[in-house]
Amino acid sequence: MGILERIILIGDSGHSKVIEDSIRSQNRVIIAKLDDKYNKNTYEHQVFKGPIHLIKEILEDDVMVVIAIGSNSVRKQIVERLALPKEKYAKVIHNSAIISNSSNIGFGTVVMPGAVVNADVSIGNHTIINTNSVIEHDCVIEDFAHVSPATILTGNVKVGEGSHIGAGATVIPGIEIGAWTNIGAGSAVISNIESNTTVVGVPARLIEKEGLA
Ligand SMILES: CC(C)(COP(=O)(O)OP(=O)(O)OC[C@H]1O[C@@H](n2cnc3c(N)ncnc32)[C@H](O)[C@@H]1OP(=O)(O)O)[C@@H](O)C(=O)NCCC(=O)NCCS
Repeated sequence: MGILERIILIGDSGHSKVIEDSIRSQNRVIIAKLDDKYNKNTYEHQVFKGPIHLIKEILEDDVMVVIAIGSNSVRKQIVERLALPKEKYAKVIHNSAIISNSSNIGFGTVVMPGAVVNADVSIGNHTIINTNSVIEHDCVIEDFAHVSPATILTGNVKVGEGSHIGAGATVIPGIEIGAWTNIGAGSAVISNIESNTTVVGVPARLIEKEGLA
């Protein structure tokens, strides 16, 4: 067996546990978990834990990074704060996910167990494609978006930067969802959604002109 690729996780929470499983399923190894909830440094079971700023001291050339934080806006803030080259961020794809060879997945993006990413899909950087979600042909998902568990994006759906699609939502073909929207769990999205809004229900209706930005 060759040398295992080493990964630093930023964020140590429930969301990061699923990312850890996905990383291990790819036979990569986590060497550190950095989170600002840690005010002292520890080293246990060969994993270093400490605050995020220590990344500058432990990041070596052949080590990759994943931002394992569920909040889309916080993930973006951390990426801006670290200012690393985008190639330093690992793509994490659980080995049970089904990914079309014609799809394109960006840096720092995580694809959780059982997700399906079909033909000609384009997924940006630092997005979350969560457990058992289905991303049908020709969808375009921009940076920092989050498609929650069991969500179905049918063909040709566009999801703007930072948008959060709640668990179990369904989006019909050709719909455009703007940036930093918040789509409620279980919603059926049957018309385009403006940026910076929150919509819920079947069919999805506007409840807030605010969104997530
Ligand atoms: C949409 C959402 C963000 C709204 O949260 P909120 O701003 O706190 O909204 P509230 O709970 O105050 O609800 C506002 C109204 O919308 C309704 N509503 C909220 N979420 C709803 C949903 N998913 N479906 C249908 N109606 C919903 C509430 O019943 C309430 O209606 P009312 O004004 O008639 O009483 C949240 O309810 C939601 O669905 N989040 C998705 C979470 C998720 O899937 N996470 C995945 C993590 S991996």
